[in-house]
Amino acid sequence: MRKVLAIAGSDCSGGAGIQADLKTMTMHGVYGMSVITALTAQNTMGVTDVMLVSGAFLKKQLEAVFSDIVPDAIKIGMLGNKEIIEALADFFEEHSELIEKIPIVLDPVMVSTSGHMLMEADAVEVLKKKLFPWSTLITPNLPETNVLTEKKIETLAQMKQAAAFLSEQYAISVLVKGGHCSDSASDILYEKDKNCSTFSGEILTNPNKHGSGCTLSSAIACNLAKGYTLQESCKKAKKYVEKAIGANLNLGRGRGPLNHMVEFR
Ligand SMILES: Nc1ncnc2c1ncn2[C@@H]1O[C@H](COP(=O)(O)OP(=O)(O)OP(=O)(O)O)[C@@H](O)[C@H]1O
Ligand SMILES: [Mg+2]
Repeated sequence: MRKVLAIAGSDCSGGAGIQADLKTMTMHGVYGMSVITALTAQNTMGVTDVMLVSGAFLKKQLEAVFSDIVPDAIKIGMLGNKEIIEALADFFEEHSELIEKIPIVLDPVMVSTSGHMLMEADAVEVLKKKLFPWSTLITPNLPETNVLTEKKIETLAQMKQAAAFLSEQYAISVLVKGGHCSDSASDILYEKDKNCSTFSGEILTNPNKHGSGCTLSSAIACNLAKGYTLQESCKKAKKYVEKAIGANLNLGRGRGPLNHMVEFR
């Protein structure tokens, strides 16, 4: 069985973070593992508090996983602060021969949709410098793309330019997600070899899409673990998320979660 590791924060309400990652992995028929960076107190209405783990404890979790079950792909989500990013980068450095062989999908989570900061502002530079070089793919949404490019990205044409710019700047593949775009819900993949693909999607108007970004990056990691190309992996993941949003699971009093159990094969 293929094994996938999520390195991310917990969402106690089950819709995003580690909980979304593990549900997505189970639905993709892979064995899911989780190294937890943070506990968040959140629900469908927003995030009320965050408790980060120490860099030292993050490393203990990584050592426990890698000394026993080596993942076939890694998804990285919420990291929180510089200390955690540096601890993860140190671990990758110390195990570089192993890590270089594993596809890594990095979702550069910065702010929750409800507006709560999920990464300290001074951590962005460290993330770019220390973790982008290890990543096969980064998956910024539009607000994160704005931070990374220092430009305001609104249209599909600007998303393509931004994906190309970031891919060339960091020598990695980039998927700019269109969930915050008013034109359409299309995602743009610009690969390291300069191949550009558009995964088109209609905007689904139901509000129940809490955790869509976490789910997408996990689904991509699962597909990569199963041996699909990056392009196929992103295409299949987009379809899964579309169906899981489309299921309109109306749980909770705010923006409800996706239905991860939707049939997608
Ligand atoms: N309203 C929508 N209709 C259809 N697809 C959507 C919609 N919103 C988001 N998506 C899809 O969901 C995935 C996640 O995109 P999005 O830009 O919302 O990420 P995100 O902001 O990181 O999500 P999150 O709020 O979970 O952090 C993408 O594949 C995107 O195309
Ligand atoms: Mg996100």
